Amino acid sequence: METLISKDINEAKQGEVYAPFANDPNTYNKKFYIESYGCAMNFSDSEIVASILNDKGFGATRIIEEADLIFINTCSIREKAEQTVRNKLQNYAVFKKTNPSLLVGVLGCMAERLKAKLLEEEKLVDIVVGPDAYRSLPSLIEEAESGQKSVNVLLSREETYADISPVRLNQNGITAFVSIMRGCNNMCSFCVVPFTRGRERSRDAASIIEECKQLVAEGYKEVTLLGQNVDSYHYQPGTETEAITFDKLLEMVALIDPQLRVRFSTSHPKDITDEVLHVMAKYPNICKYIHLPVQSGNTRILQLMNRTYTKEWYLSKVKRIKEIMPDCAISSDIIVGFCTETEADHQDTLDIMRQSKYEFSYMYAYSERPGTLAAKRYQDDVSEADKMRRLDEIIALQGQLSLASNLQDIGKTFEVLVEGDSKKSNKDWSGRNSQNKMIVFPKTDAPITKGMYVQVTVTKASQATLIGHLVDA
Ligand code: SAH
Ligand code: SF4
Ligand code: F3S
Repeated sequence: METLISKDINEAKQGEVYAPFANDPNTYNKKFYIESYGCAMNFSDSEIVASILNDKGFGATRIIEEADLIFINTCSIREKAEQTVRNKLQNYAVFKKTNPSLLVGVLGCMAERLKAKLLEEEKLVDIVVGPDAYRSLPSLIEEAESGQKSVNVLLSREETYADISPVRLNQNGITAFVSIMRGCNNMCSFCVVPFTRGRERSRDAASIIEECKQLVAEGYKEVTLLGQNVDSYHYQPGTETEAITFDKLLEMVALIDPQLRVRFSTSHPKDITDEVLHVMAKYPNICKYIHLPVQSGNTRILQLMNRTYTKEWYLSKVKRIKEIMPDCAISSDIIVGFCTETEADHQDTLDIMRQSKYEFSYMYAYSERPGTLAAKRYQDDVSEADKMRRLDEIIALQGQLSLASNLQDIGKTFEVLVEGDSKKSNKDWSGRNSQNKMIVFPKTDAPITKGMYVQVTVTKASQATLIGHLVDA
């Protein structure tokens, strides 16, 4: 059911195993192994967890066999996501056999959704910790070490882990996620996130700026500001000062260093303001790319989804973005087969995709989640076969749209941040342009390294990638 046609910052690593970095084995007497699933928020949280565990004397390992503790940071967004985690947990049973003192912990959204029930359902789980309770990990681990099962799934209205410096688990050293807020106050009827992540709260702006500056000092070249709904960022530093809204925060981050690229995700169409668009247009280092999930192109379905905009309203937002930034790329999330969706409704989705000319999209078949508004109020009445066919149709259309957009880039020259070798060959470099498109180009004698900005002229394009060559210096 899970379908993903192009990679994007919102769910860049959905379902992929996260390889933690190897720590100095002499500093830590015990080792933990952590795998993350779900959205970027979860990956970012794993870096907070790593920091808390380091302080407790646990070092990260990529070798699961040598771990004293295995953590799995989980996602509940669709049934399939939870199934993936359950399968993974089954695989851990072998490690428990060879190492009886091994502890297995479930973190994240599935821990929050299922709470102590998870201990009954998955016998080998020792520790269950929700997204707002990571500070209690050290005491929970102690409890589990003494033979008791331990659980903390309390949600918080304040927790932002602002003072905890994340331990960067990904090793590219060029791009990093920076969490700016937690939770979500929207109540999209299909979505489990408000239940697993709790109320929305914004992180202290000063701590965000501090973290970004630190990243720059360490040589990072790109930050992605993360939140379920970044445009409702709102931080009140004190009674005397004005509140910091997302446009202001974005500007503050952009001003840290013109060499630091700034991205953000996700924007709810109802909340992204002209102020944000103007700040984006003003600073060349703010990437011209917006992830603007539409979910459906039909106004009636949008209402049932509680998205609070109509088809026309969404399209006017797209128009506004292009007016202010003609070169801005837009991507989307789309759900097919939501409750009561007819063929005609589905046609509206295809139509809004064509009109919005998305550069890419994440596309999903509706998966009913227990406890959500939709599960309580509406019937999941679109057949599996119809869902799959509609999904195939939107995937095919998105393929055409992505290709059309990429073909238009042939002949253009872009600034590319080199992220490393191309996946297919170490004879090629790869990196992204401001619009978040992957560009691959052959290595030459030019002294290029990871983390450099280079000018690349596009000569060929496929649905997923642009291919080009370096512009002679
Ligand atoms: N905060 C983000 C989305 C987070 S979830 C936003 O508001 O856009 C990522 C995507 O998963 C959603 O945009 C939606 O397209 C999809 N999704 C969420 N719940 C789903 C469900 N029950 N079934 C299928 N897809 C779902
Ligand atoms: Fe879910 Fe909607 Fe919140 Fe996104 S904005 S996390 S889709 S409730
Ligand atoms: Fe993210 Fe999945 Fe939770 S998408 S917020 S990890 S339910």
